[in-house]
Amino acid sequence: MAPWILPSLSQVAAQLHLPDQGAPWAPHWDQAIAAAPAEAPNWLSQSAIADACRAASLDESMTAAALAMGKRIENDPALRTLLWYYHYRLYLAVPYVFESDWPLLTEALGDEAGMFQVSVALSATPHVLENHRQRGISPEVTRDTLSDVAFCLKTEDYTAEHGRWGLSIRILSWLSNHYRGQCYRLGRLQFVHSPFADALRAYRHRRDGTVVALSEAGVRYRADGQYDGAGGVCDSQGGWTSELTETAGGIEGSPIHPVGYAVRRQIRLAADQWAPALVRGDGVLDMHIPAGSPMDCDACMQSLRQAREFFPRHFPDKPFVGFDCRSWLMDGQFDTLLPATSNLVRVQRQMYLFPFPGQTSWVMGVVFGLKGASTRNFTLAELPRQTGMQRAFAAHLERGGHFRAGGGFLLVDDLDKGPDVYRRQKLPW
Ligand SMILES: CC(C)(COP(=O)(O)OP(=O)(O)OC[C@H]1O[C@@H](n2cnc3c(N)ncnc32)[C@H](O)[C@@H]1OP(=O)(O)O)[C@@H](O)C(=O)NCCC(=O)NCCS
Repeated sequence: MAPWILPSLSQVAAQLHLPDQGAPWAPHWDQAIAAAPAEAPNWLSQSAIADACRAASLDESMTAAALAMGKRIENDPALRTLLWYYHYRLYLAVPYVFESDWPLLTEALGDEAGMFQVSVALSATPHVLENHRQRGISPEVTRDTLSDVAFCLKTEDYTAEHGRWGLSIRILSWLSNHYRGQCYRLGRLQFVHSPFADALRAYRHRRDGTVVALSEAGVRYRADGQYDGAGGVCDSQGGWTSELTETAGGIEGSPIHPVGYAVRRQIRLAADQWAPALVRGDGVLDMHIPAGSPMDCDACMQSLRQAREFFPRHFPDKPFVGFDCRSWLMDGQFDTLLPATSNLVRVQRQMYLFPFPGQTSWVMGVVFGLKGASTRNFTLAELPRQTGMQRAFAAHLERGGHFRAGGGFLLVDDLDKGPDVYRRQKLPW
């Protein structure tokens, strides 16, 4: 056993005031301990932490906090061991598993607890830099990608809530995509290569190129074609369940309109006329939109074009057929709530929208800054109305409206076809 760590979970848990041995947050503990190197890894050293801070574009004050936490970890066997355990689970174990109930070390570290997550992220710097080097990724892309750490420190909840630099467990999970070499920032957007996992299939007409999505079977929709329960709205009277039947001659199911709702009727797409274009498990590039500047539509499209070049060049082993996004940003109602000049509306018009079972609380957090809106009551009067979006969304809520989020995809072959590519089509129903 490596002498720089403590072997026993109960010892670590007791010293850090964490839930006891056998805690569900720490599976495969023994495996992680057995995999520890004989000597303490170099990434625990102050000079390695300083390098990692530079790679992640941390400013002076963030770097000071990271170095201070690093010192604390270096001098505390329980913290060293826990850091090793998280490092192993996030960056070395295959398959990687993230436990959303990893505890914050508030009892042991007070308000500085959020910096422990930063240390976990930064510990993978040598790993990610080597990974990028082997893939031939440019220093600019590496810098832009890793600078999300500094960005999250500035903009995410922990720092605002605790008045100290730090990251939540949720953001550590997000940043582990970057440090595992799975997430890249290319211009305005970030991309993660993933298997498509939404409950629909898209087909392309073999001759005229029209794209039509059909719902998978077994999805419960409301009469308005949204997921039953999305935005907290259920429809026991008018709800219906989708069906999808595949035969040798074709496929029959309920279409999804490109503006984002399922249609309660069956259409048949003959196999000799329609070819599958996007099905569950196909490689896609998940799009993420960091805050910080407007989501300028032209910049976003430029970003998609960059991704179209970048991934085949650096990840020839990871083919993809399109881009997709599931977010509050893809709620199909925005077309009627925001002006046509809104970036959000303009980006949506480039995509084939589809239903997604999100909740109003997402918008309450991102647009109105009301954290925990899903668990606490708020009054409409307390909503800030400084921006056009806040005013339009508050008015929508006052009219009894809700927000449901949504999904959108754009197939690579349609990337250069301009706005409304899917809305201009003549649909076969
Ligand atoms: C995504 C984002 C960059 C879009 O901003 P944008 O490009 O300004 O969007 P629009 O052009 O559609 O904005 C129209 C109006 O809404 C305002 N607005 C946009 N996003 C807003 C937000 N999150 N909160 C409050 N107001 C917002 C704009 O300031 C603008 O106001 P104005 O009419 O008074 O000038 C922005 O919402 C943001 O930073 N969100 C946080 C990150 C995020 O949600 N990412 C997706 C995670 S899944």
